[in-house]
Amino acid sequence: MSDKTRAEAGDLSSWSPESWRSKPIVQAPFYPDASTLKSVEDDLCTWPPLVIADEIRKLKASLAGVAERRAFLLQGGDCAESFSEHSANNIRDFFKVFLSMAIVLTYEAALPIVKIGRIAGQFAKPRSSDVEKRGDVTLPSYRGDIINGFDFTAAARIPDPTRMREVYRQSAATLNLLRGFAVGGYSKLERVQRWMLDFLDDSPVAQQYLDVAGRITEALEFMAAIGMNADTVQQLNGVHFYTSHEALLLPYEQALTRQDSVEGGWYGTSAHLLWIGDRTRQPDHAHVEFARGLNNPIGLKVGPSTTPDGLIGLIDQLNPLNEAGKLTLIARFGSDKIGKSLPPLIRAVERAGRTVIWSCDPMHGNTITANTGYKTRPFGRILEEVQAFFEIHRTEGTYAGGVHLEMTGKNVTECTGGAVALQEADLSGQYDTLCDPRLNARQALELAFLIAAELKKDRAQRPSTLLAAAE
Ligand code: PEP
Ligand code: CO
Repeated sequence: MSDKTRAEAGDLSSWSPESWRSKPIVQAPFYPDASTLKSVEDDLCTWPPLVIADEIRKLKASLAGVAERRAFLLQGGDCAESFSEHSANNIRDFFKVFLSMAIVLTYEAALPIVKIGRIAGQFAKPRSSDVEKRGDVTLPSYRGDIINGFDFTAAARIPDPTRMREVYRQSAATLNLLRGFAVGGYSKLERVQRWMLDFLDDSPVAQQYLDVAGRITEALEFMAAIGMNADTVQQLNGVHFYTSHEALLLPYEQALTRQDSVEGGWYGTSAHLLWIGDRTRQPDHAHVEFARGLNNPIGLKVGPSTTPDGLIGLIDQLNPLNEAGKLTLIARFGSDKIGKSLPPLIRAVERAGRTVIWSCDPMHGNTITANTGYKTRPFGRILEEVQAFFEIHRTEGTYAGGVHLEMTGKNVTECTGGAVALQEADLSGQYDTLCDPRLNARQALELAFLIAAELKKDRAQRPSTLLAAAE
């Protein structure tokens, strides 16, 4: 793209929070009750933002550190949150395993980990088919609790706009708890270390990772001995934790889009980071139009159908000023396709001189249907895709900047394999997801140790941060 057309792609004079409405759209529900839809949108427009511009700018600055190879991104959570699974225990258990993963990654990478949950707003789901068939009954597909009900009845499957109010309330309550956990001592580093050891205790990989865990403990003991503890060092007393979801249901997202009273720009305030899914990234369609006007950091799912030229065009629409930290490309190819599909895209981005974060979603290209009929993901294939992602970036001389995972703090049986050696026959034990299969707590922590090993390999290739600081 020439510089002129690049500037045109970034021209916001035609953009407004509702300019997406004049574009073609896919994956959007049809609401039979238009007047209720309007009254819900009107309510949401007047309700307080869920996150504020200052926090969003902080996240963007941290992500700039990822783009510049000074940090690593950990993004994860449910495929789809639900009304029925909304509880303090679920949120707490997710938070505990997520921070346990982060501590392992921080230690092995010797880098700050930018922590973003798929939580407090991840309710809308794109579907590969508009309908679901069971026997000789065909009904509209379930599209996430923000749109319709999971029950296989005609009534439940009608899109109901009042669900948006419920999502707003649930997201606000979830965020409130997460903010409480993140600051004020609950997630002080010593405690996170204890959670990590507790998860590990319970795991068949304990022996394998006792060495790393032991070294983390030693590092903390050393710090304590020289007087660095949660009372004396603010950074050890809490964490920065951010939220994200797919910006799929645009009436909801539009209603929560606000102009910053300080600096004037537009911000999506339903979450800190919003992403565009693999099925809704058509450059002339509504979802790209909506996202291109936001000041939030934006994620873009990149899959096997992405072409190098198409990708550069999207980058220029979504990050016309080429800002570091603005755009995260979330690669989701599948372990069998990444080797062929990712390198040409990386090369195109490098040739064009665009600054992006490359993050690896090893979940969405590795979904299979087990013989028992359950949708599942073999742990081995997830790991293979992550390792290929790191290896490809090493070969290309680019930076493997993050991972994007579907996971839960619960002990579910949704993905096969891992050290817990979950078999297809075990899937029925606790298969709770309403959408895609998630890693359970033990599988998630095991994957964190394996990702940490990749980060450690790369650490050996860069100068020590300590030596650089001492010079
Ligand atoms: C998801 O992240 O849940 C999802 C649907 O991903 P994708 O857009 O990559 O298919
Ligand atoms: Co999913």
